[in-house]
Amino acid sequence: MTPEQITLVRSSFARVVPVARSTAALFYANLFEAQPALRALFKGDMDKQGALLLQMIGAAVGLLDKPQTLLPVLRQLGARHGGYGVRPAHYDAVGTALLQTLAQGLGPHFDTATRAAWTTMYTLVATTMIDAAEQAAATLTPPQPAPVAAPATA
Ligand code: HEM
Repeated sequence: MTPEQITLVRSSFARVVPVARSTAALFYANLFEAQPALRALFKGDMDKQGALLLQMIGAAVGLLDKPQTLLPVLRQLGARHGGYGVRPAHYDAVGTALLQTLAQGLGPHFDTATRAAWTTMYTLVATTMIDAAEQAAATLTPPQPAPVAAPATA
């Protein structure tokens, strides 16, 4: 991300912080309206879940200029998401709901450059999480038995 994009993400996120709770609720309403099947993955209290999500986005926004700190946090988060039943395809739905929610919440402040900056950030976050979940899954998969060699024929 360019320094300008980091500034745009930070300044727009600062407008969301005072209304974090309603933003989180709107985000899940948007997500479950578009993808009702995803509701079943969430087992806990959605108010708490929303607070955790916004906290984590806030932490990522704060660390955008410190990838050496941010990337390991995202990788661990991504590996945990594999355990929640989250699959790579779900990240598109979440990204769409996030951008939709920001557009609704920020109105005219969510201009083309701000949208592009958030899209870049979400892509970075999602690809890092997906990659880590895939690696974690690969590590957990037991080695497959070696194929039985066909008997040598004369
Ligand atoms: C930007 C990407 C995402 C961020 C920052 C994020 C953040 C979080 C955080 C902070 C938690 C709390 C638990 C933990 O830290 O391990 C969590 C849990 C969870 N997230 Fe995400 N998440 C993201 C993407 C997704 C996606 C794509 C899905 C798919 C629907 C998803 C579904 C879940 C579920 C099912 C839980 C567990 C909830 C429960 O136990 O009730 N998340 N997420």
